Amino acid sequence: MKILFVCTGNICRSPMAEGILRNKFGNAGIKVETDSCGFESFHVGDNPDKRAQAVCGKYGIDISRHVARLFRKQDFDDFDRIYVMDSSHYYSVSRMARSAGDMTKVDYLLNIIYPGKNLPVDDPWYHDLQAFERTYKQLDAACDSLIEMTGPGKEDTK
Ligand code: 4NP
Repeated sequence: MKILFVCTGNICRSPMAEGILRNKFGNAGIKVETDSCGFESFHVGDNPDKRAQAVCGKYGIDISRHVARLFRKQDFDDFDRIYVMDSSHYYSVSRMARSAGDMTKVDYLLNIIYPGKNLPVDDPWYHDLQAFERTYKQLDAACDSLIEMTGPGKEDTK
C-alpha cells in the first residue's frame, strides 16, 4: 500500500499525516509506504515547520527529516491512494489528472471519517501551537480509521 498526503506548503499538515500514519502502521506491523507533498513552492526543500515537528515529537513521532516537494503527475502512478487536506488541493490535483482513472485514487482525508462531506483539515500555519495540536488530533483520528480500513485481512491491503 502506497499512500500520499497532499497539502499546500508540505511543511505542516501533510508531513504530520505522513508521520502519524507511518507510526501507526509501524506499530501495527503493516507494510506501508507513505510520502507527502504540496502545491506551493515557497517551502520546497525545507524541513517541516518547527511547530509541526514539536507537536509530532510530543507524541513520539519524528518528522524532522522530511523535505518538502511539489505534487507531480508521476504521483498518480506511484501511489495507490492520494489524500488531500482541503478543496484547494483537490482542485489542484484534479487539474493535473491525466484521466478519470487518476482521480479514483484521490479523496479528502477527512472523508475517511465523514464520508462524502469533503471537510477540510484545519490549516494551522497562521495560528499558534494549539492549532497544530487540533490539527494533529484531526489527522490522528483519520489515520486511525485509515488503518482500520487497510489493516490485515482487509481486501484492499497490498
Ligand atoms: P501546510 O501549511 O499546507 O499544512 O504545509 C502551509 C504552509 C505554508 C503556507 C501555507 C500553508 N504558506 O503559505 O507558506
